[in-house]
Amino acid sequence: MTNTNGTILITGASSGIGAIYADRFAARGHDLLLVARNAGRLTGIATQLTERYGVSVRTIVADLGAEEGLKAVEAVIASDDTITHLVNNAGFGSAAPLAGAKVEDMQAMVAINVTAPLRLTYAAVPRFVSRGKGTIINISSIVAIGPEVLNGVYGGTKSFVLAFSHSLRKELQGTGVNVQVVLPGATGTEFWDVAGLPASNLPSEWVMSAADLVDAALVGLDRGEFATIPSLQDASEWDAWEAARAAMLPHLSSRKPADRYSA
Ligand SMILES: NC(=O)c1ccc[n+]([C@@H]2O[C@H](COP(=O)([O-])OP(=O)(O)OC[C@H]3O[C@@H](n4cnc5c(N)ncnc54)[C@H](OP(=O)(O)O)[C@@H]3O)[C@@H](O)[C@H]2O)c1
Repeated sequence: MTNTNGTILITGASSGIGAIYADRFAARGHDLLLVARNAGRLTGIATQLTERYGVSVRTIVADLGAEEGLKAVEAVIASDDTITHLVNNAGFGSAAPLAGAKVEDMQAMVAINVTAPLRLTYAAVPRFVSRGKGTIINISSIVAIGPEVLNGVYGGTKSFVLAFSHSLRKELQGTGVNVQVVLPGATGTEFWDVAGLPASNLPSEWVMSAADLVDAALVGLDRGEFATIPSLQDASEWDAWEAARAAMLPHLSSRKPADRYSA
């Protein structure tokens, strides 16, 4: 039987935030396409969600850091017209400072956090636009606003996700395709173990559960919010940051160097 709710493709669905997105979208009656490397975990999640919610859950075991893995997911996006939402969630971070991190690891981070969402968005957008409908959810981070907080390459990748989402949203206005960017603060997942700083080292009042994070992000999505920062208590701080950007934009390009740079 065809599921008219549409299929949600979630990358990094084998744990943490992605696994909660899978649960919540299945509870809403969507079929799922779950992507990650860990086949055992993906199968376990798929079986559980099918039993619990009666939806169809397919899995794609793919390394999004490898060309082969990216091509496999792109091919599914190209051939499956039931996909209505792309959740670019797979990613990893590091707490290592520049001097303490291997450049190969940093390049691998750019591949997962930047190249993968870029490639999958390019695969999905033309299809969504031709159908006049679709949603892209990009998982950035609060370090997009404070890239100096953790590892600098990690901050840079998440700033890319925020900037890319801004321009995507602008370009896609009027097409029926919706873009949301989510900026989680510290969230209690395996992310922190992978980053080399287990979450137990952080003050507990900083750390949100993945369930609370995703539930809040979905409230933002349902309200049509562009940038959702579940941990930011006062939304006017984001509005002020956006207003400051908008006010500066018209003054950023000029034939004449500013007076303060006179020799
Ligand atoms: N936790 C936080 O504090 C926090 C804060 C801000 C933003 N975020 C962002 O939230 C997103 C989800 O992270 P999380 O906190 O849920 O961490 P997580 O539990 O470690 O989940 C990361 C997911 O990404 C997948 N993944 C990693 N490398 C991959 C690869 N090469 N190919 C395919 N999938 C890959 C992992 O699956 P496999 O290992 O099975 O491949 C896993 O499902 C990330 O983009 C992260 O940057 C997290």
